[in-house]
Amino acid sequence: MVDPEKNTSLPTHVAIIMDGNGRWAEERKRPRLFGHKAGVDSVREIIETARSLGIGYLTLYAFSTENWNRPAHEISGLMGLLQRYLQSELKTMLENNIRLHCLGEPERLPTDVRKTLMQTINDTRACSGMTLNLALSYGGRSELIRAMQSMAKECCLGDLASEEITETTISDRLFTAGQPDPDLLIRTGGERRLSNFLLWQLSYAELYFTDVKWPDFRKDEFFKALETYQSRQRRYGRIAVQLHAE
Ligand code: IPE
Ligand code: IPE
Ligand code: MG
Repeated sequence: MVDPEKNTSLPTHVAIIMDGNGRWAEERKRPRLFGHKAGVDSVREIIETARSLGIGYLTLYAFSTENWNRPAHEISGLMGLLQRYLQSELKTMLENNIRLHCLGEPERLPTDVRKTLMQTINDTRACSGMTLNLALSYGGRSELIRAMQSMAKECCLGDLASEEITETTISDRLFTAGQPDPDLLIRTGGERRLSNFLLWQLSYAELYFTDVKWPDFRKDEFFKALETYQSRQRRYGRIAVQLHAE
């Protein structure tokens, strides 16, 4: 029986801010890209674990709109890693029935990366075991601006009345349209901020912050985050006694 005091079920949607690669490398007196490379191994392990647990949606923040302000050589290193990762992972995604989806502005990515990304999205479109959202050139505010612009246009054309704008109308115009909101947000690397990630979708997510840097965030650390999630009581504004009554 489900204990209403606790949230014993697994999250349907887990979102992760994968932070700390650069500092992990610096601690080892290595270039930052060494940390990003090590981070790719964590990406593989966390995807595999999420899939084997039956988590329906996994969203990974891989590159923010603000990350375009990094030094050019770091950006090109990251884009190279992304390209190689996508090329090497298609087979695994298909074998594990994982559908790839992109949150963000793929048009800003280098042409080769964009092509591989679009090809992988297309090749995995029939997969139904888990949706893997890669947030690439993603910014929460720019996502909301796009949604607002799209609604404003529809209003001008007479296809949408302002009174018809609801939470669903907005959610349907985000990159995550049709998906449930994240239940759990994990941020590795010690910072306690959202860094412009899923500003609308995270409104009722449980937040889990850890000092563990992303390259060290493996299966056991993921389990710790999931156990913490299961110890939380999600009240959605109500009081505990009401949860018992249901
Ligand atoms: C996260 O690690 C990866 C990306 C933002 C691409 P960082 O590169 O931000 O690592 P730190 O925060 O500098 O340690
Ligand atoms: C957030 O990490 C973005 C990603 C993990 C892709 P950052 O390292 O860019 O965030 P800030 O700059 O510390 O807020
Ligand atoms: Mg960082």
